[in-house]
Formats: sequence, structure tokens, C-alpha cells
Amino acid sequence: VKSLKVTESGSSEPEVTERRAMRRALELAVQGWGRVSTNPLVGAVLLRDGRVVGEGWHAEWGGPHAEAVALAACDDPAGTTCVVTLEPCAHEGKTPACSTALIDAAVARVVYAVGDPNPEAGGGAARLREAGVEVERGPLGAEAAALNAAFICAHRHPKRPYVALKLATSMDGFLADREGRSQWISGPEAREWVHWLRAGFDAIGVGRRTALADDPLLTVRGSVTPLRPPTRIVFGRSAELPENLKLMQTLDEVPVVLVAAEPGAEPTPSFRDEPLPPFSMTAPDRLTAPDLPAAFRLLRERAVTSLLVEGGGTLAGLLLDAGLVDRLYWIQAPVRLGGGVPAFGDTAPQPLGGAERWTVTERRSLGPDTLLVMDREPCSPES
Ligand SMILES: NC(=O)c1ccc[n+]([C@@H]2O[C@H](COP(=O)([O-])OP(=O)(O)OC[C@H]3O[C@@H](n4cnc5c(N)ncnc54)[C@H](OP(=O)(O)O)[C@@H]3O)[C@@H](O)[C@H]2O)c1
Repeated sequence: VKSLKVTESGSSEPEVTERRAMRRALELAVQGWGRVSTNPLVGAVLLRDGRVVGEGWHAEWGGPHAEAVALAACDDPAGTTCVVTLEPCAHEGKTPACSTALIDAAVARVVYAVGDPNPEAGGGAARLREAGVEVERGPLGAEAAALNAAFICAHRHPKRPYVALKLATSMDGFLADREGRSQWISGPEAREWVHWLRAGFDAIGVGRRTALADDPLLTVRGSVTPLRPPTRIVFGRSAELPENLKLMQTLDEVPVVLVAAEPGAEPTPSFRDEPLPPFSMTAPDRLTAPDLPAAFRLLRERAVTSLLVEGGGTLAGLLLDAGLVDRLYWIQAPVRLGGGVPAFGDTAPQPLGGAERWTVTERRSLGPDTLLVMDREPCSPES
């Protein structure tokens, strides 16, 4: 049932509920995609008597926060309700604390969707309450937590990146045909969307066989230009790639890291033991580790907080078996191959009773293809 509000001019217009305002705040938050890492995506809406009187989002790392933008966009924020996707921060960092800004602006009520998991910035809700502001954890918490899964996970797992696996498969679960050809299983809409997706990650990774078979560039060539282009990473047992591959020919454009994970390998020293070398623009960085979890620890130390792995199937299976995949972006195309490169390699079977059950966070069409987004452990809004 839509509630209607009679405006001063006498016309009636739908009242913006806090739930609708939160939906709008989530749409605003997404505008920062690709521009805010290592910060969260945040959107804010100011409501007065069921009407939107200010909006904002965090548009860029180091720039003003969503609440500050919404307050600046409002002529008279005193007495309004601020509906915001993340608990307002409590710490003075690159910009003043949002909780202080809301208190100074005499905002009456704050409704937020997800608690701030960052120990340095959290505590904003308590601070607002102490200052007499009414504070409530409001609607759409699961959606808001899913939107910021990488940020929340970065705090939950401080020793590895947040890992999302993106695979485009045939309807019968193959990544490529019997000859290893995968271009193109999915349609142009899905491929364009993948460029948008890439922009939101610190790094893009593939298995070494994919690097050799597909000769991909792994750069972002879509509607969003990321603040920093994602580092390109190739995982194998060996850290060698032929010089003529496009990845190696474009080292001066975007850095490349070659990761060799093999039992018995001498691990690259932790940066706690040795000074952190800068990412090189003229040669690929090479990391070695005895296994993938150890390799991921090294990547996190090198500021990779989120990683999008784009196959192939062998790497996908190794990561799933190691419990290293947080989210699966699965693009299913209505094409039947009948055989080829299996999407999930050779993974260890699990008995149905004890099998992992993932949570579907999104289903949608991308042209003729279907996108399914699944989270292994959905982030909690209480984070
Ligand atoms: N449709 C899609 O979305 C999509 C995406 C990506 C790829 N593909 C297709 O998939 C095919 C390649 O997939 P793939 O499954 O053959 O290979 P892959 O997953 O791309 O690469 C696997 C790599 O894993 C390494 N490896 C093997 N065992 C390992 C272990 N125990 N620990 C660490 N690393 C290990 C190997 O390294 P070494 O080589 O050093 O031994 C190998 O190169 C290509 O045909 C490509 O076109 C399709």
C-alpha cells in the first residue's frame, strides 16, 4: 500500500518511506563503483516529512563521504532523517567524522543498513545516540552488506583478499570447447558487464593455462574508469610466461604479478621481514609460495584487498576446494557444447548431507545470458 502525502500545493505525491529512501541510497552508493577502494560504497538520503531534501554518495577515495555530500546538498538539514547504507563513521580521517557532521547539522534521526566493521571508524551509532540523535538499524541490511562484501570481508579476513570467481559457461557447464576455445560463450551484454565488474576490484586473476590459451589483456575497457587500474595476476605452478603475450607486452600500462604456488617452493619473504618492493612497471613481479593460501597472504600484504578470478576451471576448482572463494559470479549462456573444459576442474566430492550451501544474492538477465551471484557466507548487516 503506497502512502500518499498531500503537498502544500494540494497535489498528492507518494511519501518516500525510509525503506524507499534506503533503496535509493543503495542506488546512489553504486555510483562509487571502481573509485572508492579501500573505502566502502556508501549512499545517503535526507528525508523531511516523507520528502527527499538531500542526496549524496561517496564518489572517490579520499573525497567527501556520502553523508557530508547529502548535508551539503540540503538547504536546512536540521530535524531531518538521514537514511544511509553504512553506519556513519566516528573517526576523523582524510575527511571529518560523519557522525560529527550529522550532530553539528542537528539531524534528528539516522537510519543505517549495515554496521561499520572497521574498528577505527566504527562506533558512529553510539556517538550519535550520546548526542541525542535517534538511531536505528533499518531496512535492506542484507542488500547493503552484499554490496560492500569486499569491504566487510577485508576486515573479517585481514590476511587474504576478498575473492570473487567469475565464470562464463555453456548451459552444460563448460568454459571452453574441446579445442580450448572460449571466445565467445557469452554475449556482448555479459562481456560489457564484466568490464564494469572488473573496475570494482584491486586485482584480476587467471590461471596460467588461460593466459597461454586466450592471451587476454585483463584490463578494464568499459563505462567505468577505475581510480587505479586493477593489477593483473597469473596463477600457476610456474611463474613464467612468454614475452609475446599481451599481458607481458603491456607491463608499462598496468602491473602484472606472476604467482607460482607449488608445494616445497621457497616462499617470497613476507613484507614484515623485508621492505615491500613497489609494483614494477617494466617487469612482472614474481611471487612464490608453497600453496594458494600462502600466495594470497602475500598478495594481501601487497595491498590486494579484492581479487576477481576469471578462470579457468582448474584454478576455480583449486580455489573452491581451498575455501578461498567468497562469491561466484556465474554467467550461464544458452549454448550446449557437449564437452570441453569443465567449469570447476577436478574438485573433491562432498556428501550431499554435509555439502556447502551457498546463498543466491542476485539473479538477472544479461542479454540472452543469465547472471547468478552466489555468496559462500553472506555478510551480516551487524558486521
Ligand atoms: N569461459 C570462461 O569464463 C573462461 C575463463 C577462463 C578460461 N577459460 C578457458 O579455460 C581454459 C583454461 O582452463 P584450465 O582449467 O585448463 O586452466 P587454468 O585454470 O586457466 O590454469 C590452471 C593452472 O593451474 C596451475 N595448477 C595446476 N595444479 C596446481 C596446483 N595444485 N596448485 C597451483 N597451481 C596449479 C597450472 O599451472 P602450470 O601451468 O604452471 O602448471 C595451470 O596453468 C582455456 O581454454 C580458456 O579459454 C574460459
